[in-house]
Amino acid sequence: MTRTPVTVTVTGAAGQIGYALLFRIASGQLLGADVPVRLRLLEIPQAVKAAEGTAMELDDCAFPLLQGIDIFDDATRAFEGANVALLVGARPRTKGMERGDLLEANGGIFKPQGEAINAGAADDIRVLVVGNPANTNALIAQQHAPDVPAERFTAMTRLDHNRALAQLSKKAGVSVSDIKKMTIWGNHSATQYPDLFHAEIGGKTAAEVVDDQDWLENDFIPTVAKRGAAIIEARGASSAASAASAAIDHIHTWVNGTAEGDWTSMAVVSDGSYGVPEGLISSFPVTCADGRWEIVQGLEIDDFSRGRIDASVAELAEERDAVRKLGLI
Ligand code: NAD
Ligand code: LMR
Repeated sequence: MTRTPVTVTVTGAAGQIGYALLFRIASGQLLGADVPVRLRLLEIPQAVKAAEGTAMELDDCAFPLLQGIDIFDDATRAFEGANVALLVGARPRTKGMERGDLLEANGGIFKPQGEAINAGAADDIRVLVVGNPANTNALIAQQHAPDVPAERFTAMTRLDHNRALAQLSKKAGVSVSDIKKMTIWGNHSATQYPDLFHAEIGGKTAAEVVDDQDWLENDFIPTVAKRGAAIIEARGASSAASAASAAIDHIHTWVNGTAEGDWTSMAVVSDGSYGVPEGLISSFPVTCADGRWEIVQGLEIDDFSRGRIDASVAELAEERDAVRKLGLI
């Protein structure tokens, strides 16, 4: 093995997503079959033992690409030298907790993690925030890492993107690989807007192919936007393997690029494109090349899409204002 190992830090490593994610990273699915990895796992002290158990299992897989595993309960040490950081650990909403309480509890996690990334991560650090509320947690971390280029902080809407592909493929009777240019706009929440007016199947827009505005508005959009809650209802726990799979897809695409004639969805720092206020971390259609993302420009947004995008972006602005009020940014 001649390539330098890539250091990947994963927070919440002992949780459900962590368990579905770590084995795929170690097997080479995150970065490529020829890229050795070193794992640095961050957990809270009470969960370190469980993370050690997962590390034992990782050892037992004898993955040729896995060059070492270190476990920490201290963020500063966990992010030292990290090239990729997957911020999965977060404080879930518990009974009686208001939205403000949730934002505050997560601010207590993502502020120090942003500071730790700023202090010790590698120069090429790329951050994906999975822990909810993902967009605003990413904003908090980014705001506390002033020396890291803002575009290195992203939040995950790839699971929503994949959910939209799956729903559309069933309706249109095509394979997911026949669908190009799917977009999730806005927040990873029930206000998100999965857009079929720019998605394409065989060169036509998906909206034209489906030709069913009632399904689009009253079935497709709510099914995708509320899928997280439907999984919780069915499984008694939030999505884990599909979330881990989407995290793998997100980083793999960011590092290795989008295919010609296609794009993906990532929540990234807005530059004001499509009227999304500068600085908000909002989901856009993006292309990736040479390890960088770019927001797809020049799409025509009709009134229907405008209203949906604006509603989700307004929610993001409210979350930003709430964490500002709490002194978290
Ligand atoms: P989980 O409760 O099973 O695991 C979370 C883990 O994070 C726990 O082991 C916990 O000890 C750890 N943790 C808590 N605070 C930490 C901290 N400060 N540092 C390090 N670790 C910490 O939860 P899960 O099912 O793995 O989900 C993780 C998060 O991902 C949740 O916030 C969930 O809502 C979110 N999620 C996001 C998406 C998405 O599409 N963006 C999809 C699914 C789940
Ligand atoms: C999901 O989309 O599956 C999760 O974000 C749901 C949740 O609230 O954890």
